[in-house]
Amino acid sequence: MTRLSDPAHRGPFGRERAGVDVTVIVPTRNEQANVAELVRQLAAALGRRRAEILFVDDSEDDTVAEIERVAQDAPLPVRVLHRPAGERTGGLSGAVVAGLAAAAADVCVVMDGDLQHPPALVPALVDRHARGDADVVVASRYIGGGDSTGLGTTLRFGVSRAATILTKSMFPLRLHGTSDPMTGFFLVDRSRLDLSTLRPSGFKILLELLVRTDLRAAEVPMRFHERAEGESKASLRQGVTFLVHLARLRFGKMSLFAGIGALGAVANIAIVWLLTSLGLGYIWAAIVAAEVTIVANFLLAERFVFADMRGRASGFRRRFLTSFAFNNAEAAIRIPVLAFLVETWHISSVLATAITLAVAFVARFVFHSLVVYAP
Ligand code: GDD
Ligand code: MN
Repeated sequence: MTRLSDPAHRGPFGRERAGVDVTVIVPTRNEQANVAELVRQLAAALGRRRAEILFVDDSEDDTVAEIERVAQDAPLPVRVLHRPAGERTGGLSGAVVAGLAAAAADVCVVMDGDLQHPPALVPALVDRHARGDADVVVASRYIGGGDSTGLGTTLRFGVSRAATILTKSMFPLRLHGTSDPMTGFFLVDRSRLDLSTLRPSGFKILLELLVRTDLRAAEVPMRFHERAEGESKASLRQGVTFLVHLARLRFGKMSLFAGIGALGAVANIAIVWLLTSLGLGYIWAAIVAAEVTIVANFLLAERFVFADMRGRASGFRRRFLTSFAFNNAEAAIRIPVLAFLVETWHISSVLATAITLAVAFVARFVFHSLVVYAP
């Protein structure tokens, strides 16, 4: 059963309602113990603003009942959209998109339900958006005045930082200059979004929005607190979901880069065949073939894969030399590593070749995105 409590606040198409300027969307999963305090703090922060709170709930516990109880004497409209088991597509991100579709206002603030995101910051997001030059306002842990101590353990902090760096290297131009694309606290102007273009998955809905759309972004600093009550739903499984999400978002460019690499491998074999049949020794033939394909791959990648990034990167000569040096070093290292895997670890030579080529491919891609075409 999908429940939109307090039907008085609903209009046509299950959304609506006139007179609400801001919808605060809160995805929840077993947050019963945090609901009352969150609503209290949001109501205090929003004051006389015309706002509603919309919970999108995927809980197994009594969170829905608690929200409905709290809604009764809240000073602002509080609604809950409960997604029953079986309809919880996209997890946390899917819940946020469902909230965006059901929100009464176009100005939507998305935040966690465990008080890690300070409700007192909501007016700052709304006021920043009101300036009119941004469609998304990110509450960032990583700009001056921001703070990420709520991440707790060194391990979580490290994982979060590593994920942020990896993400920035994979989307150097698509994050619109945001310092914290992984935050779950942001404002988005729904009127600037086509929800049907989104493919939400896992925890990183802001990343999805930034990469798939052309929203203008602004930021305000945020202090990320410790969770108030209950337990985090972060898990190893979420980590894997995140990596798959990243790969899917990025797949376009990366598959092109892989295709050019495959073309280069075929050309490599053809050149070796040609030169040896002309009487050149196979070692020399292999060296010539390797250098020719390194240069050709660079020119193709330059033209087709990284064309949109050239403008902001260093000059052609510099890009070529960096790429050329990296590819030669990579080729020179790959052979001894292969020998090591086969001789010392006793991995079959075919498998070892596949492993070294796969690692080399990822390394080349990351190096080109991050270094050769660095803005
Ligand atoms: N509806 C719904 N469905 N809500 C969910 C689900 C789900 O499957 N999983 C988690 N939530 C809710 C939680 O109840 C909480 O309100 C919020 O989403 C964040 O979940 P936590 O379990 O507290 O996750 P976290 O603290 O590890 O992650 C948060 O911090 C990250 C930054 O480090 C999230 O805000 C992430 O979006 C954020 O990137
Ligand atoms: Mn949390």
